[in-house]
Amino acid sequence: MKPVKVGLLGLGTVGTGVVRIVERHQEDLLGQAGSPIIIEQIAVKNTNKLRSVPIDADKLTDDPWDVIRNPEIDVIIEVMGGINQTKEYILEALASGKHVVTANKDLMALHGQEILAKARENRCDVMYEASVAGGIPIIRTLIEGFSSDRITKIMGIVNGTTNYMLTKMTQEGVSYSDVLREAQELGYAEADPTSDVEGLDAARKMAILATLGFRTNVALEDVSVRGISSISQEDIQYAKRLGYEVKLLGIAERENDAISVTVQPTMVKNTHPIASVNGVFNAVYVYGEAVGETMFYGPGAGEMPTATSIVADLVAVVKNLKLGVNGQQAAAIFRDKKLMSDEQ
Ligand code: NDP
Ligand code: HSE
Repeated sequence: MKPVKVGLLGLGTVGTGVVRIVERHQEDLLGQAGSPIIIEQIAVKNTNKLRSVPIDADKLTDDPWDVIRNPEIDVIIEVMGGINQTKEYILEALASGKHVVTANKDLMALHGQEILAKARENRCDVMYEASVAGGIPIIRTLIEGFSSDRITKIMGIVNGTTNYMLTKMTQEGVSYSDVLREAQELGYAEADPTSDVEGLDAARKMAILATLGFRTNVALEDVSVRGISSISQEDIQYAKRLGYEVKLLGIAERENDAISVTVQPTMVKNTHPIASVNGVFNAVYVYGEAVGETMFYGPGAGEMPTATSIVADLVAVVKNLKLGVNGQQAAAIFRDKKLMSDEQ
């Protein structure tokens, strides 16, 4: 059995979780994927940093191009973050026939169409389950689970950092700055946590969910965004006295051809199930014309939940390799009608 060789870009919170899962679940993964999985090379910023997982020093490089251009590597797992330079790495990887798994919602919300087009052109997979709602398999659910329905609304809590902050501020009266620091220490927040607290991270995720759910392009600039940075302890306690919880809610709705997507702090009646989604947990409601209302709940950030989604994507890529059907998901969700007709 020929092993599948993986190149990892990033060994921070999520990358470390990926190494742990590949190591701990080796036998299960072999059973499911049908091939041993080997982490062949890892790009990091600082090759001398102490790591919490055992890594052979000769696997580390501080130049992501070494990994992208390594002919031994079949699949790139991108968990380093960043947008423009990272896009170049991914496009080059796809051009050379490597499959890609990424947790990068910033990249997918802004350049998903271009990346998926390149993947389709090269019959490669691009999987990004971990980019939205950490450990909840919501992307696969929207693409496959609801393919028979017409989705009218997607609503939920899709940022773990801010939900963790709001929960602690509500339940324990912890200050905004202290609880943000805690969320950073726990590995939930983005490298620049402004995108969490100002709602941009949630907006990027909602743009991805709305694109998949409504089967059209929803651009990030069309999402109306307000974060939690102006929410005070007084606002939270006042809402609580009235019987409400403050939550950062993303709502994507479609009526006929009109789509609206918003992210904003919202007072949720404390009897509504969303009010009891606490800590780093996320919840996504999906409303379909046929199915009615469904709810998906789970950890939205953090090392192991996020790595669970990444490694599940990796297994899917390896299964596709066995079947020779890589690139078909990228083709199926390709939305750019102009590019599609250009290709015919
Ligand atoms: P971290 O900051 O913990 O890790 C980033 C890793 O990438 C580090 O290992 C860093 O190296 C490496 N890195 C950064 N820049 C470069 C570079 N230019 N060249 C080589 N290596 C580089 O980030 P996370 O693990 O938290 O997040 C990674 C990605 O996953 C992001 O896109 C994030 O949005 C996404 N994500 C994160 C989640 C979470 O819960 N944390 C959940 C879902 C998605 P070094 O270790 O040497 O500093
Ligand atoms: N910073 C993000 C969050 C990570 O807190 O939800 C998961 O995408």
